[in-house]
Amino acid sequence: MAGEGAEWWSGETVAVVTGANRGIGLEICWQLAGKELTVIMTARKPQEQLSSSAQQFLQEAAEMGRKKVIFHTLDTTQEQSVLDFVDWLKSLDWFVDILVNNAGVANPVIDWDFVKRNNIDTRTIVAHPTWTEGISEKYESAKHNIETNFYGTKRLTKALLPLLRPTSYKPRIVNVSSSYGLSCPRIVNVSSNYGLSCHLRDEELRQQLCDTMGLTEQKIDGVLAMFLDDVKSEKGMEKWPLKFPSYCISKIALNAYTRLLALELGDKACVNSVHPGYVTTDMTFGSGDFSPAEGAANLAHVALLPAGGPSGRNFLERKDADF
Ligand SMILES: NC(=O)c1ccc[n+]([C@@H]2O[C@H](COP(=O)([O-])OP(=O)(O)OC[C@H]3O[C@@H](n4cnc5c(N)ncnc54)[C@H](OP(=O)(O)O)[C@@H]3O)[C@@H](O)[C@H]2O)c1
Repeated sequence: MAGEGAEWWSGETVAVVTGANRGIGLEICWQLAGKELTVIMTARKPQEQLSSSAQQFLQEAAEMGRKKVIFHTLDTTQEQSVLDFVDWLKSLDWFVDILVNNAGVANPVIDWDFVKRNNIDTRTIVAHPTWTEGISEKYESAKHNIETNFYGTKRLTKALLPLLRPTSYKPRIVNVSSSYGLSCPRIVNVSSNYGLSCHLRDEELRQQLCDTMGLTEQKIDGVLAMFLDDVKSEKGMEKWPLKFPSYCISKIALNAYTRLLALELGDKACVNSVHPGYVTTDMTFGSGDFSPAEGAANLAHVALLPAGGPSGRNFLERKDADF
């Protein structure tokens, strides 16, 4: 049974982590396993094709006798993969206490020749809020970003809803978002502060996604479809975020869905989104202010908040912030 007090979890607490082949996802598996939780580490690749660090994690967990670290293949963009995963959990009679929706892609189209010729550092490319030279958006990668970061997360979450364990401390859904997922312009007051975040530049669109009470899945889908149409036709892009628009809009939509789902689930679960910080991983081309372990600790903090914690909130690192 779950422990008393602030530490509500135990070895029977089941945490599912997506995108755990590398980066922040792999790190959070280490951290949750270190707290003796049952960790279901998932990745889109089969076990034998995992990164050497992921293989090492599984091997060390086995050597330390951690029978509670289990791997399962899961590609969140593939319906069948999600169904197979859910069937496997059902076959074990397992419920889920923590779902960390970490799997994500950014896929910016970067002209590396231009970047090298002009001596632009990767930090500027990744984190400068208004720097767009050498960076472009292509329809196929935009679609893939939205399919992975938004629809993949939503697909898995919906499929796992019936398996969320009904408990007094409430199961937790942690949607790994980004400071690039803020819909309104503002100074991001976190340690990786780069000034104004990227944001929707059209007030009407912003209202549509920020008005939680009037929000529906159809509304979010409509905004995403409109965005992809604009990317395809290369028109109307002035209303969308300036930098990494498809990555931003995928995370803005994820934040909107976080609020919507939190409302729908009421007191059945805590659903929050979290910006892990600006973390040194492949996604940031090795730039960043935090190690993957520090980024993962920010996610673990929200996943393991004491019972009675918030739902429908957005955390910038560990700070409860607005959307
Ligand atoms: N790094 C940062 O500064 C930062 C900042 C804000 C938010 N984030 C968010 O944090 C999360 C983790 O990012 P990261 O920096 O650790 O990136 P990363 O090193 O690029 O790792 C991303 C992981 O997601 C997996 N993935 C991609 N598509 C998937 C799919 N369809 N199904 C399952 N797994 C999939 C990748 O699998 P493969 O290994 O097989 O490719 C990889 O393991 C992402 O959601 C990202 O948007 C990161």
